Amino acid sequence: MNIDILLGLQWGDEGKGKIVDALSPVYDIIARFQGGPNAGHSLEFNNIKHVLHLIPSGIFHPDKLNIIGNGVVIDPAVFKKEIEELGPPVDELTKRLIISARANLIMPSHRILDAAYELQKGNSKIGSTLKGIGPAYTDKAGRNGLRVGDILRKNFREIYAEHFKNHLIILKNYDFKFNIKEYEEGWFEGIELLKKFQLINTEYLLNDLAVKGKRILAEGAQGTMLDVDFGSYPFVTSSNTISAGACTGLGISPKQIGEIFGIFKAYCTRVGSGPFPTELNDETGNNLRNLGHEFGSTTGRPRRCGWLDLPALKYSIMINGITQLFMTKADVMSGFKSINICTSYKVDGKECLEIPFNNDSEIEPVYTALPGWNENISGIKEFDDLPESLKKYIEFIENNTGVPITLVSVGPDRKETIFRK
Ligand code: GDP
Ligand code: IMO
Ligand code: MG
Repeated sequence: MNIDILLGLQWGDEGKGKIVDALSPVYDIIARFQGGPNAGHSLEFNNIKHVLHLIPSGIFHPDKLNIIGNGVVIDPAVFKKEIEELGPPVDELTKRLIISARANLIMPSHRILDAAYELQKGNSKIGSTLKGIGPAYTDKAGRNGLRVGDILRKNFREIYAEHFKNHLIILKNYDFKFNIKEYEEGWFEGIELLKKFQLINTEYLLNDLAVKGKRILAEGAQGTMLDVDFGSYPFVTSSNTISAGACTGLGISPKQIGEIFGIFKAYCTRVGSGPFPTELNDETGNNLRNLGHEFGSTTGRPRRCGWLDLPALKYSIMINGITQLFMTKADVMSGFKSINICTSYKVDGKECLEIPFNNDSEIEPVYTALPGWNENISGIKEFDDLPESLKKYIEFIENNTGVPITLVSVGPDRKETIFRK
C-alpha cells in the first residue's frame, strides 16, 4: 500500500499546498487527482511564497516526480503562465512533470460559459472561480470533452472548432458579450507548451511505480464540503474531492491506499456562496480574516470565516475514511481569550448531528467554549512545547472525532510544521 492521500476536510484552502510541499521529501511521486485552476495551493520557503493552480505541490523538490492525473481539468493558458512563473527552465520541468493524456481540457469557451451561467443565476450564483470548471466537467460527463491527448491529433484545430461551435449554440441563449480572440491566444500557446511534456496514460506509470515500491502522495484540491456529491449541492465544485476521487482521478485501486490524511484549519473558511453554519459576521470573523490573511489564493476574494464545525468535520472524516488529521493555522488564533467549537446543530429548532440535506434549513450551531492561548506559537518545533490550552483544544477534537492529530502547522513556511512523534 504505497499510495497515501492528502485532502481538504472543509471548504478548501485548508493549507494543502503547504503540507504537500512539507511532506514531499518522504515521497517519490506527488500526483494531483481532481479539480483544476480553481485551486490555489500556496507554499512558502526561503521567504518566497508560491501559488500553484494545476501543478502538484511537490514541484519545488527537484528529485520528485509530479503527475497531473486524468481527473484534473487543464486550462493550457493557465498551465503556460504557471510554468513560466515557476522558475526552472522548461527542459528541466519536462523531466519531473508528467501529464495524463486522459485529463480533460478547459476550453476558452468553458470560461465564457462559466461566466454566462453565473450571471444568469443572479442572486443564487455559486460563486464559481470562473475558471471554466463546471462547463469542462459537464462536457467530460456528457462525453463531449476534449482531452489532453487530443492535442497531438493532426486535425486538432478542426476538432477544437467543432467543440467551440457547440458552445456557441448554447451561448446564443445568453445575453453575454465576449471576445473569443482574447481568450484563445494564450490558450493555443499553452497547447504548444503542453506538447513539450510527456502526455501519457499516467495510470500505467503510477501503478508500475507503486508495484516497484515507490511512494506516492495523491494531492486533493478544494475540500470535502465542496464535493459534487457530498457538499452543499449546488454550492459545490464539479468534481469528487473526496478520497474516492483519488482512485478515479489517478487510475489506482482502493487496495493500494495506505494513509488518508485529512487537513483542516483550526477554524473554518469558505469562499463563494452556500451554507456555512458557524460563519461569524462580526468582529471575530473580521479578526480571523485579517490575522489569517483569508483572501482567496486564486481570486483574491475575501474568505468567509467562522468557528470550527465538528459535525462537518466528522462528516468529512466518515466520507473519506481519514486515518490521520493535520491541523493548520492554530497560530492565527493566538490571543483569542475564548474559542468556540460547534459540537452539534439545532436544525429547525431540533438538536442534530447530521448535515441537513436542505441548504435552506435554519441551522443554529451549538457551541462549547474552550480557553484560548496567548503565546506566539510559530517558532515552536515540538508538540510538547505547544501551549496547554492549544493541546486541550487538540485533545477535544481528537476525542470528538476519534482520529489522532499527527501534524500541527504553525505558520505558512514549510519549516513551520510540527510532526507529532
Ligand atoms: P490550499 O488551497 O489548501 O493549499 O490552501 P491556500 O494556499 O489556498 O490557503 C492557505 C493559506 O494559509 C496560504 O496563504 C498559506 O500560506 C497559509 N498557511 C498554511 N498553513 C498555515 C499555518 O499553519 N499558519 C498560517 N498562519 N498560515 C498558513
Ligand atoms: P483549493 O484547492 C476554496 C469554490 C468556489 C465556489 C465553488 C465552485 O485552493 O482549496 P468552481 O470554480 O469550482 O466552479 O467553484 O467552489 N472553490 C474553492 N474554494 N478553495 C478552492 O480550491 C476552491 N475551488 C473552488 O469559491 O464556491
Ligand atoms: Mg486554496
